Amino acid sequence: MKITFAEQAATDIVAFVIDQDGRLPDTASSLDESSGGLLTEALGQKRFSGKSGQIAVVVLPKACTARRAVLIGGGKPADRDARAQEKIGGLLVKSQAGSGFKSLGLYADDAEFAARAAIGAKLASYRFDNYFTKQKDDDKPSLKTFSLVVPDEGAAKAAWKPMDAAADGTALARDLMNMPPNLLYPATFAEKIKELEKHGIEVEILGEKEMEKLGMGSLLGVGQGSVKESKLGIMKWMGGKKGDAPVALCGKGVCFDTGGISLKPGPGMENMRGDMGGAAAVTGAMLALAKRKANANVVGLVGLVENMPDGNAIRPGDILTSASGQTIEVLNTDAEGRLVLADVLWYAQKEFKPKSIVDLATLTGAIVVSLGHHHAGLFTNNDDMAEQLTKAGLAEGERVWRMPIGPEYDRQLKSQFADMKNIGGKSAGSITAAQFLQRFVNEGQAWTHLDIAGVAWVEGEKSPIDPSWASGFGPRLLDRWIADNYEG
Ligand code: BES
Ligand code: MN
Ligand code: ZN
Repeated sequence: MKITFAEQAATDIVAFVIDQDGRLPDTASSLDESSGGLLTEALGQKRFSGKSGQIAVVVLPKACTARRAVLIGGGKPADRDARAQEKIGGLLVKSQAGSGFKSLGLYADDAEFAARAAIGAKLASYRFDNYFTKQKDDDKPSLKTFSLVVPDEGAAKAAWKPMDAAADGTALARDLMNMPPNLLYPATFAEKIKELEKHGIEVEILGEKEMEKLGMGSLLGVGQGSVKESKLGIMKWMGGKKGDAPVALCGKGVCFDTGGISLKPGPGMENMRGDMGGAAAVTGAMLALAKRKANANVVGLVGLVENMPDGNAIRPGDILTSASGQTIEVLNTDAEGRLVLADVLWYAQKEFKPKSIVDLATLTGAIVVSLGHHHAGLFTNNDDMAEQLTKAGLAEGERVWRMPIGPEYDRQLKSQFADMKNIGGKSAGSITAAQFLQRFVNEGQAWTHLDIAGVAWVEGEKSPIDPSWASGFGPRLLDRWIADNYEG
């Protein structure tokens, strides 16, 4: 869907936001007049009071410039925060996408609202339908353009530019997540990363040989049961000061997680196509940064593997030697994400000496039990990062909630055969997973782990701006965090 900003637009459908218990806005008065007062009449109808989420569609007489008018409830103006503004754009697209009309114009009286409505519309128009071969034209959206009618085109476009980039990042993360695991595996994920070169991102892909040389026995152990070669994807966006240490974003990229020899139960296993959600978030964030030409140095590192049961797969009881030199007793091959990240974190620190690290991973079922689907779990050794990321998440609607870590939990990782075991027992599953990761973070290194297992995909009823299986969680949060804390 194309999104435009202009001071005037001729569209099939025109939309106006109606304040709760409010009146028709001035921008609607000429259309109201030419329709013989149909808009005013719609306002008086019982089930439309301008409450958030309400919609009234008015069929306009021939004499009018547009074919339909849509009145959309804006709720109380004081409550119309960024989320509510995005929802307005999202609901408009959701309700009119299949209307049969091609263009929709929304009157927006300020730049920030216009841009927020636009990102809501863009996110709501996301589709993943490449693999339907029998879709009829009537099943496809008719809506092709969404125009924001604004008093100041320049201001609205300026507000839109970074949001447009962030939404592209979300869409990329969703695409990667939604892709089936027979088509998206480490090598094809790496190809997708390569495509970012055209946006000015420097890309390097390491294969198994190179990772063996680096001693990455932990990551390689996870991939050894798969016929697909494991990869490490490295993306660099150096838009900041030359020589400045970068921020490192690290992602778990388990392209499919069967659990390995500690096989997962069958029902729901297909969801483990999304176990590369951390890597998708990092890749989407890199795209967003490059598209808006962020004034910061950022590296993205994704550990790409497939966790399969096989004659060559790792067994419970195996001891792996990670690149850091620390040994790990694998007691459950389904606790594989931490094994992947252990080596990715090590590489990030050795290679880039980053100012700070954020890793993202669909790491534990336990975080879904703790926080459900509305917050990612945040674990950090740095209070500033906790505050910054919490704020960025609130600003962009990708919320995080801080969880504790500490040496008390660390004891649960004690192994009788190696430096640590890869599971921490029944209690505090997402905390012991974070403790495990912290063992691969150097003393003094600012680091935050986001467990996104509960938010990377959501089934059931969702917000209109999150229309597909994959949410695409991460790029907006990371992009905003970098914009607010590492630029200017
Ligand atoms: N990828 C899963 C975690 C997960 C579960 C993500 C549900 C999304 C939804 C991870 O690799 C895993 O299997 N974790 C185990 C760890 C356990 C064996 C210690 C889990 O959470 O059960
Ligand atoms: Mn697993
Ligand atoms: Zn996993």
